[in-house]
Amino acid sequence: MSAPSIALIGAGRMGAALASGWLSGKDKPDIRIQDPHPSEIVTGWASAGKVVLNPEPSPVDVLIVAVKPQVFPQMAESLKPWIGPDTLVISIMAGTRIRQLSDRLGTDRLIRVMPNTPGAIGRGVSVISALTTITATDIGITQTLLAPLGEVIGPVDEKHMSVVTGLSGSGPAYVFLLAEAMADAAAAEGLPADLAARLARLTVEGAAALMAQSEEAPNALRKAVTSPGGTTQAALDILMDEGGMPGLMRKAIRAAASRDRELSRDTD
Ligand SMILES: NC(=O)c1ccc[n+]([C@@H]2O[C@H](COP(=O)([O-])OP(=O)(O)OC[C@H]3O[C@@H](n4cnc5c(N)ncnc54)[C@H](OP(=O)(O)O)[C@@H]3O)[C@@H](O)[C@H]2O)c1
Repeated sequence: MSAPSIALIGAGRMGAALASGWLSGKDKPDIRIQDPHPSEIVTGWASAGKVVLNPEPSPVDVLIVAVKPQVFPQMAESLKPWIGPDTLVISIMAGTRIRQLSDRLGTDRLIRVMPNTPGAIGRGVSVISALTTITATDIGITQTLLAPLGEVIGPVDEKHMSVVTGLSGSGPAYVFLLAEAMADAAAAEGLPADLAARLARLTVEGAAALMAQSEEAPNALRKAVTSPGGTTQAALDILMDEGGMPGLMRKAIRAAASRDRELSRDTD
């Protein structure tokens, strides 16, 4: 496939990470960016002739909507000139359903994506969902265009997207909280706070890197570092007790998924 013409609407954290990935590829993509307050990096690309910034809209092969979901309802009408009979629309907005996109944009040729923040450094995961009428070619184009953010999973049934949001979309924050809580607990036990923060951070980073390199499931990795009657076991007895981490995580992901369902109702 020759490089498609792309219009990127919103070049914030996620949008700019995508464009940065496309620009570092070997194809010379035709990228138009619409953003009322572009960052320095984006204006730099425009000055170097790598992208066209805020041009008059005209139909493109792929329109990528990467604005905040709250601004989408007001600006949806202004996106229509980018959409022709052959345009594929990809939305990375949280909490905006395929039907809402289709109602506001007047096309069914669209794919909904839930990315996550590690995508900004190419280590994210994006989950895609689409109507059954979407072709394998469109799925393939989407997978290629999302590759700069990291792994691409799916398509999955849209009914799963609220839980996906609660897991991989919001999940990085749970891991940051883990590092925070570990550091606070160690400081409360008398370790100097800066040492506690440093050790907690390096431990979370190291454990994630170890898991990334291992073929073993997380529970096998956990058991491998837990000697019966040892220190890790003493801590896990607390963490895995009734009211501990598994139960709390169950409640947390349920709350995030419910909030996602509410937010989608609000944008109707
Ligand atoms: N970051 C995440 O963890 C994450 C995870 C999953 C999904 N997402 C989704 O990804 C999307 C983008 O998130 P983000 O973190 O990249 O947000 P962001 O950094 O705020 O980027 C949004 C960009 O859109 C621009 N914008 C606002 N109004 C516009 C308009 N009318 N036309 C064109 N551009 C406009 C914003 O400019 P101003 O700053 O000047 O308003 C900003 O540069 C969101 O829909 C979010 O739900 C993000």
